[in-house]
Amino acid sequence: MRSNETVPLSPEQSASAAAETSPRRVFVKTYGCQMNVYDSQRMADALAADGYQPTDTVEKADLVLLNTCHIREKAAEKVYSEIGRLRKKKLGGGLKNSDVLIGIAGCVAQAEGEEIIRRAPSVDLVIGPQTYHRLPDVVRRARAGEKVVETDYAVEDKFDHLPHPQPKIVRSRGVSAFLTVQEGCDKFCTFCVVPYTRGAEVSRSVAQIVAEAETLVAAGVREITLLGQNVNAWHGVGVDGRQSGLGELLFRLADIPGLARLRYTTSHPRDMDDALIEAHRDLAVLMPYLHLPVQSGSDRILKAMNRRHTAADYLRLVERIRKARPDIALSGDFIVGFPGETETDFADTLQLVRDVGYVQAYSFKYSPRPGTPGADLENQVPENRKDDRLQQLQAVLNAQNQSFAAGLVGATTDVLIEKPGRNAGQRVGRSPWLIPVVVDEKAGEIGDIVNVRITATGANSLFAETN
Ligand code: 5AD
Ligand code: SF4
Repeated sequence: MRSNETVPLSPEQSASAAAETSPRRVFVKTYGCQMNVYDSQRMADALAADGYQPTDTVEKADLVLLNTCHIREKAAEKVYSEIGRLRKKKLGGGLKNSDVLIGIAGCVAQAEGEEIIRRAPSVDLVIGPQTYHRLPDVVRRARAGEKVVETDYAVEDKFDHLPHPQPKIVRSRGVSAFLTVQEGCDKFCTFCVVPYTRGAEVSRSVAQIVAEAETLVAAGVREITLLGQNVNAWHGVGVDGRQSGLGELLFRLADIPGLARLRYTTSHPRDMDDALIEAHRDLAVLMPYLHLPVQSGSDRILKAMNRRHTAADYLRLVERIRKARPDIALSGDFIVGFPGETETDFADTLQLVRDVGYVQAYSFKYSPRPGTPGADLENQVPENRKDDRLQQLQAVLNAQNQSFAAGLVGATTDVLIEKPGRNAGQRVGRSPWLIPVVVDEKAGEIGDIVNVRITATGANSLFAETN
């Protein structure tokens, strides 16, 4: 039967029919960083306990959650456009039923709070990242007709209250998983909203982290990426009762049988301590890849950004890390056009990029974020100059990325097979340096780590044959 031949139900009828015949479904759309990917999964877990099953199709959902990002302007604007599209669909009957709830989570929710409902009255609930454990209750209240805004920093630890990931749920997530170990940031770089949207630095306990890692591994996960806005600021009391940092935590996690690979992101140069560098030297399971944002190569701009390190500090650090782990691949974040940035400052950034040599990088035009000190600076850089600098920077970074990949052709390496490839007969795995590797399906099963020889480079991937 074609859909336009069905007899439309009244909203009440369709809601009750849905409740009787099928479980409620939640559609979560994730914007922004990996922390949001992880949070989206945990929100889905929390709602699963309340009878909501996840769906990949917005049209089938009873609850649509947008897990938003506020780091740059475009990200927030995209959310408002998406709300507009959802509203149109809801009014036009394009969604499952007219009582579908629309919820906004994540950093836009935290930053804008009630303003979202004022600007977009079709939104039913707004929930900030610190209160996701209250989501089932918030959804129940919204279902009862209340417009709920929950953006306080909770006094309780959200991780204590979110359901512990169950092997049954985790199994569907594949062989590579994220695990949040730290949230928030006390660094207050003058361009950044994170200290305002995610709050002060909080570290999860070793016991919580180890228990979650063990659950993941028991469910078939082979690679874990530890997440934190400022992950190398993680600190906790180790098994020996002493304060320890991320380096010690990595040593502890490396002991979990069956865990083949560890990664962590994102790091601040100031928090790379000796134990962490030693972990790179001594732990084979710690992959030789490090995301170490520098933002700028100009000391003047680094100071204005409140980064609290110089270009020379960063270069010295990179040297120490490379000494410990010579094959380490570095990745970075860059901002062009921070207020006051001159051509000379920008030339310093290009020089630093040439000096370091990045395998991968993320570069952005400075976007003034309301409430951050950078937004109030007077000497903002015109948009066309930012465009120009971004293009120049990306040309250098892309060339480095391609030359790294080209240099791998002929090399042998281990690949963790993650999923089926786009074409029949192929599988896609991960190299230690994060670049995807396409192999023949005969190379191994999903979850296997196989030794391969790189034969060619693709657009954003490598091709390999088994040895
Ligand atoms: N404008 C542009 N880029 C930004 N980033 C953070 N805040 C801003 C901003 N206001 C970038 C930084 C950071 C990454 C996650 O996003 O490079 O490391
Ligand atoms: Fe933002 Fe990172 Fe600076 Fe913290 S360290 S304020 S998260 S850029």
